[in-house]
Amino acid sequence: MRDAGERSLARPGGFVGARIALGVSGGIAAYKAADLASRLIRAGSTVDVMMTDGATRFIQPLTFEALTGRAVFSDVFDGWKDGSAGHVSLARDADVVVIAPATANTIARLASGYTEDMIGAVALATEAPLLIAPAMEHHMWHHAATRANVQTLVDRGAIVIPPETGRLASGAFGDGRLASPDAIIGSLRAVLGQYGALAGRRVIVSAGGTREALDPVRYIGNRSSGRMGIAIAEAAVETGADVTIVATPGVLGPLHGMKVVRVESAIEMQRAIEEAVRDADVLVMAAAVSDFRSRTLASHKIKKKADQDLLTIQLVKNPDIVASITGERLLKIGFAAETRDLLDNARRKLLDKGLAMIVANDAVDTIGHERSTATFLFADRDPIALPSLSKDEVARRLVAEVISLIAERDRDA
Ligand code: CTP
Repeated sequence: MRDAGERSLARPGGFVGARIALGVSGGIAAYKAADLASRLIRAGSTVDVMMTDGATRFIQPLTFEALTGRAVFSDVFDGWKDGSAGHVSLARDADVVVIAPATANTIARLASGYTEDMIGAVALATEAPLLIAPAMEHHMWHHAATRANVQTLVDRGAIVIPPETGRLASGAFGDGRLASPDAIIGSLRAVLGQYGALAGRRVIVSAGGTREALDPVRYIGNRSSGRMGIAIAEAAVETGADVTIVATPGVLGPLHGMKVVRVESAIEMQRAIEEAVRDADVLVMAAAVSDFRSRTLASHKIKKKADQDLLTIQLVKNPDIVASITGERLLKIGFAAETRDLLDNARRKLLDKGLAMIVANDAVDTIGHERSTATFLFADRDPIALPSLSKDEVARRLVAEVISLIAERDRDA
């Protein structure tokens, strides 16, 4: 029998080429599963949808067939055609089984091991990880029966993506809204990556632009969106890393499947990174750190005077975070976004800051844009000039280099 771990090892990690069995059970949130399926397809996965009878009353199987381009299974006997062994084939082929939404009834049936429907049968027959995203009415979620059933599933290794608090289908406010597609996709990313080349490695990524306060309402900032940092953090999760992202308030992306530490100023970022890098293997400084901060912080809003045409703010230098952080095993990776003398400036930063690698970018073409034309420079290797790529692709290539740098470091140790 093929082991689920072995199967995942053979895959590059991430959503491209992943086989995902998506179980949809009968709650009003069933319609949200269509968006989830669509996003997984767009990310490059093959999605096999299984529906309970209840789910088919809320949303038509045709919706999922059209989205996934594949047959939808509800009856457990459905799949026994064209040489396919029904639930056994689905269970064997899946890299992960995710049930979203999982109603109280489906959770109870899973906890008891019933197999009359496709979801129950596949959940028992598979060796792939099982993710459960519950959605139900507040009191049903908190009922002792549901609590015990959820605990049973967790004890058996299932991963539960907790429901959110908010307005429920009944109109009442409470716990039980299906987790957002971003949260479900974040958990899936971590599960699909768990046997990747960075499994067991700790990676710290800084993202966004720091904010240096002038008074309670104003700050000096920069245009960094944090897109690159998020892409790197996600690519590291996709290859199994335990990721901490140290993010500024401007970083708006859904940050799931990783630990998130929020900071504002360069000084706060330095402290957070110092704390996070203990036992870390890699620090990727993708943040745009303000080189200076205001010498004074006004405790009240700075007011202009009637005859004032000029305001002078004195700035003092911030610490260079990546240069200041040291660790014997720590691989440091930096970024250099320049408007001129790109490679010379980047190489100088690589050496001055003790980096293993630096990503050199044209500042104007990169900041705030979806694509980037980067060059990777290394302390001990020839440079790699990349073509214009999406930030997600640059991030994947960067992580591939991280994997090889770690292997080299471990060989030399
Ligand atoms: N960096 C840092 N701490 C700072 C400034 C920069 O850790 N106070 C990091 C950035 O996150 C990046 C690298 O150093 O990975 C290069 O940042 P950059 O702003 O390009 O370089 P600076 O050293 O600030 O040089 P300059 O602004 O003069 O170009």
